[in-house]
Amino acid sequence: MTSAHSIPDLLSPEFSADPYPVYSLLREHSPLLWHEPTSSYVLSRYEDVRRVFQDREGAFSTDNYGWQLEPVHGRTILQLDGRDHSTRRALVAPAFRGRELQERFLPVIERNSRTLVDAFRHEGRVDLVSQYATRFPINVIVDMLGLDQGDHDRFHDWYTAIIAFLGNLAQDPEVAAAGLRTRDEFEAYLLPVIAERRENPGDDLLSRLCQAEVDGTRMTDEEVKAFCSLLLAAGGETTDKALAGLFANLIAHPEQLAAVREDRSLVPRAFAESLRLTPPVQMIMRQAGRDVEIGGGTVPAGATVTCLIGAANRDPARFTEPDSFDLSRPELDGATSFSAAAEHLSFALGRHFCVGALLAEAEVRTAVNDLLDAMPNLRLAEGAELVEQGLFTRGLRELPLEFSPVPRPRAVP
Ligand code: HEM
Repeated sequence: MTSAHSIPDLLSPEFSADPYPVYSLLREHSPLLWHEPTSSYVLSRYEDVRRVFQDREGAFSTDNYGWQLEPVHGRTILQLDGRDHSTRRALVAPAFRGRELQERFLPVIERNSRTLVDAFRHEGRVDLVSQYATRFPINVIVDMLGLDQGDHDRFHDWYTAIIAFLGNLAQDPEVAAAGLRTRDEFEAYLLPVIAERRENPGDDLLSRLCQAEVDGTRMTDEEVKAFCSLLLAAGGETTDKALAGLFANLIAHPEQLAAVREDRSLVPRAFAESLRLTPPVQMIMRQAGRDVEIGGGTVPAGATVTCLIGAANRDPARFTEPDSFDLSRPELDGATSFSAAAEHLSFALGRHFCVGALLAEAEVRTAVNDLLDAMPNLRLAEGAELVEQGLFTRGLRELPLEFSPVPRPRAVP
């Protein structure tokens, strides 16, 4: 019998190096664990995590984002409930799906991907993380908002500081200070642009956020700013880590990489399976509004719950051979994997289900197509050792790749 004491702690170096064996011990021996350092009850089984996310009993709130995110972004839709939440979500959701996504934003996605790929396609090597994955989704959001494309690097720096702040479990004061400084800089940058767009609206997402009405009232400047700030973190870091993870998983399974290269309609399945196996968001918190029986015990009213997505997605009670990467696994359906009917929990479920899931899918589909076309004979760079980092969010530090370069076209005299 393994006691909770012999399971490595969530803040231990052992967990940080590879959380998956620890998740397995938690699922099996301690499915409801009181974790003193984060003052939260930890859930690791698929059914329990799904139940909290779907919250059909109305027992859980997202009030935890008041201390987790509000200090950096301000108050965002992640924290809201009920009508407040649904009206604001209805305002932003159309930009991230359907016609608007296909007709207005797909060209933005394609242009940004090609610009990044063109910068290294003739070189035969690339670090996919620093030269592509950390840049691409941020550049897309900056352009969707109609902000200055010359500010791409600046946004990349802000986004890095916000992500470090959110992952700062060790409470490093410098990281905390940089996160708060970023909040001030971002506000000083964006508020004048918001004022300008209110006066002279354009055809961009920021203008739409400024113009849109909720129950006859517009979003305040502060709300618009908070939402844009959230987009950088929620839409940037996640997609960035997902992309690098997908390529690492494919390269580790050459026959599946060859299948995707041959048949590009497999990309959504491969992406969904990669999200399941190596989710960029590993854990999410909730607040219990009343006593809840779950995981074989009781979470008391007022307590914080930590839902381990990384553990739930590998629960053998839900997925067969859960530790293997298999893009043809029967439990996954490439079509529903990006909807609130998803089988994996990497976008959560329920009312806060990722509003950008289809945008992420469009970005990753474009990225995989462009990158596979530009990188024949793709392989891991010689001697490369892949290191994952992060607790709340997790992804590769770098992904050095080599490939057969496509010769530069001759300049026309
Ligand atoms: C692979 C990429 C992505 C992953 C893994 C991911 C993951 C998640 C998760 C787990 C949540 C739920 C948080 C919770 O319930 O507490 C969420 C919510 C959200 N995501 Fe994503 N996300 C991704 C891409 C994006 C993109 C591209 C955008 C937009 C640019 C975006 C915007 C949002 C927003 C605004 C919310 C809050 C929704 C609400 O509260 O109703 N995400 N995401």
